[in-house]
Amino acid sequence: MCGIFGYVTTNEVELGPILIEAAKRLTYRGYDSVGAATLNNGRIDLRKDVGKVDIVAAKYNISEMRGQRGITQLRWATFGEPSQINAQPHIDSDGDMVGAHNGNVVNNVELREQFIAEGMTVRSQNDGETCVHAVERYINRGYEFIDAIRLAYGDLEGDYAFVIGRANDDKLYAFKKGSGMVVGLGAGFTCVSSDLPSILPLTREVIRPQDGEIVTLWADKVEVRSVKDGKQIQRMPETVTESMDAVQKGGYPHFMLKEIHEQSQVARELSHVLNGNREVDGLVEKLKNARHLYFIGCGTSYHAASVGAVYFAQLAGKPVIPVLAPQFIPQYAPAVSYEDVGIFVSQSGETKDVLNALETAEARGMACFGLANVVGSTLTKSASLCLPLCCGYEISVPATKTFTNQVVTFLYLAYKMANKDVRELDRIPELMEQTIEMVEPQIKEIAKDINEWNDMYCLGYGATYAIALEGALKLKEITYAHCEGMLSTEFKHGPLSAVSRGFPIIFVAGPNDVPLIISGINEVKVRGARTIVVAEEDARLRANADDVIVLPKSDPQISALLGVLPLQLLSYHMSVMRGFDPDFPRNLSKTLTVD
Ligand code: G6P
Repeated sequence: MCGIFGYVTTNEVELGPILIEAAKRLTYRGYDSVGAATLNNGRIDLRKDVGKVDIVAAKYNISEMRGQRGITQLRWATFGEPSQINAQPHIDSDGDMVGAHNGNVVNNVELREQFIAEGMTVRSQNDGETCVHAVERYINRGYEFIDAIRLAYGDLEGDYAFVIGRANDDKLYAFKKGSGMVVGLGAGFTCVSSDLPSILPLTREVIRPQDGEIVTLWADKVEVRSVKDGKQIQRMPETVTESMDAVQKGGYPHFMLKEIHEQSQVARELSHVLNGNREVDGLVEKLKNARHLYFIGCGTSYHAASVGAVYFAQLAGKPVIPVLAPQFIPQYAPAVSYEDVGIFVSQSGETKDVLNALETAEARGMACFGLANVVGSTLTKSASLCLPLCCGYEISVPATKTFTNQVVTFLYLAYKMANKDVRELDRIPELMEQTIEMVEPQIKEIAKDINEWNDMYCLGYGATYAIALEGALKLKEITYAHCEGMLSTEFKHGPLSAVSRGFPIIFVAGPNDVPLIISGINEVKVRGARTIVVAEEDARLRANADDVIVLPKSDPQISALLGVLPLQLLSYHMSVMRGFDPDFPRNLSKTLTVD
């Protein structure tokens, strides 16, 4: 989500083309706005706007920008709508320095209020500007630049990377917390970026700074210092030898696997953003007071909505109707009114079926809110309030990290509805990491065992029902096998006749549903099925199922969320074993803008 790039050279040169090319290499991260700043002999030239790199670059003649140092930034809106003023980079009150960040500063709102009270000129809602003023604050108090940066680091909470420079200087400064950041050393220049792929066409000599370190970049050297005591830290550059394609995939063979492994990180960022979002409490009040509550989406987003509906009932005693968006129009729209509330869920924010339902609901006076990953998408503009999913760009067609962050958002809202302590959810990212680590080797073995089958079932119950639907959808999307998701107790009402020797049936069992799932297992096992259970460790399940894929211990709601991770991995490994490309399955599209 968002990307920064900074470049330092010896003399004033035409930096525009270098910045534009670097920005283009960052576009895969997703963005709605783009900006560039050059610094030279006491002068800062800043050009930025909402739109695609080529369009903004042409409109503002960015290719003609000259300077000795330059910064470019691609923004994916979280704090503040996509607009020219919120686009990055940002200058301080007097225009003496310029900086840009990627990621999220979660105490953005509080800090902005402090800066305004301290007399600084705050122009935008954006947290990138907050980073600049955080440094300005200590300059105003008389600190040296490097010390002002060290103190600003302490004030800025969240996961982010930041680059800043002064007009009257020849250096750039950068630091990061949580997010990635890479420094490059070339012949006659140095650079810093949010990621390695944007640096590699320029140089393969890199340094990877750690949290708690400040990097100073000159044209011919970089210096790393500790934030804590300001002392210099020795860091030898490393030479990168991997291919560009491998680097873009972060070392993973496919984007899907990379995105599966990114889920804990984006869940962490999401919880920071939700905790810092002052609009959440108002939304929760509206949800509490709704006459009827609808969660509406398609495909994977509908499954997240369905899990969310179970959370709301189980935790907050609030019934919710989860609806497939097109069915909302004939079945529910005739009955809704201004007393009802809908949450429209969509990764892309552009799915036509969802937007049609939203339009119909709004025409009936229903209060419409959204959950979307692509900020600036139609859904984010049409809903009264749209919470960002904070996943960054999801490249692989099968949704993974956006699904888990949709579910985490619903869980967060359910906790708020129930007045439960949302800090309990802070353990989710770590539990996700543990799950992936615990299950992946076993999943590969199971994938081999059942790979010959082109028919299978995935069954769940309660909160895991929609998780089973999602697992079945993942398997269908990328293995091209027919996998049906179903309520485990419904299996006996018909599908049982399909079972033959070795027929794979996957169960996702919540910790409270073990006895019921055991009945289901035995029903199919006696008819020859191969039974695979995703559940927390349980001797009763071990005694009954052929395979138990063990999840770490948590609670019924979090356990359901974790249950999807083995299913994502199973579909991924089966797809690869079948020789398919899981990132781009045949016939499917990431964003469906047709009826
Ligand atoms: C398409 C995609 C699915 C996705 C669905 C809804 O069918 O292939 O992966 O779940 O659209 O997309 P949305 O962007 O609204 O979440």
